[in-house]
Amino acid sequence: MTAYDKICKCLDCVKKKIDFKPQIALVLGSGLGAFADEIEVAGTVDYSEIEGFPTSTVIGHKGRFVFGYVGKVPVVIMQGRVHYYEGYSMEDVVLPIRLMSMMGAKALFLTNASGGINPEFGAGDFMLINDHISSFVPNPLIGKNVEEMGTRFPDMSEVYKKDLREQIKAAAKELDIDLKEGVYVQLTGPSFESPAEIRMLRTLGADAVGMSTVCEAIAANHAGMKVCGISCVANLAAGMTNNPLTHDEVQECADKAAPLFKKLIGKSIENIAAVI
Ligand code: HPA
Repeated sequence: MTAYDKICKCLDCVKKKIDFKPQIALVLGSGLGAFADEIEVAGTVDYSEIEGFPTSTVIGHKGRFVFGYVGKVPVVIMQGRVHYYEGYSMEDVVLPIRLMSMMGAKALFLTNASGGINPEFGAGDFMLINDHISSFVPNPLIGKNVEEMGTRFPDMSEVYKKDLREQIKAAAKELDIDLKEGVYVQLTGPSFESPAEIRMLRTLGADAVGMSTVCEAIAANHAGMKVCGISCVANLAAGMTNNPLTHDEVQECADKAAPLFKKLIGKSIENIAAVI
């Protein structure tokens, strides 16, 4: 079965459970899933109900699509994503993104929890992603090009669209949130980085590091979706403090940041819907 056939099969499966056309797709990262519990829900579909869908194994990731409305905006939300470090192929990791594109979503809003590399960032800060570094993970477009989705050699010069970034900045301003901005780098994980790796990543121009998002942004851009993203800086990266890193710390910080994060996402989605 080709990658495209697999996505079509998943789409058929979802369509049998719910008839809903989202305008915006949203991926909620570690500890940030609570946003989906607050929207006006039209229906949910567990990943495990979708035949051929890679199912998430990380604690703190629920693993379902939530369909509903943020204000008047129809959205599909991934409450929990699929990570490369879980052992899935990159093709499987980005399958849900392509699926949401085929559901009709024109824009993709990515969120994650990250380690802050920029010394000006603190734990609990939000960073608007303005570009990425993908060089440390396999490109999700490797293999036979999925022609139905996009072109063989897609341009990546403005993955995180300026007009969407402007809308997120406006939302932050309105909510009086000090929104940082920077470059996100994806590594495979699941181990956290070493201090030497963090120094390397800083030299390369990264402001925050994590284990997701970039591959999804590439696949979405390939499929013609308008992409934007916010990273919640859950901790200072390895070697920047004396503390060892734990997933619990990431989770705790994300939990603390959640109320403000929810407001920022909600307002941003309404702003973005008005311009796409
Ligand atoms: N490194 C990688 N991924 C992360 C981190 C980190 O420090 N914090 C949250 N996700």
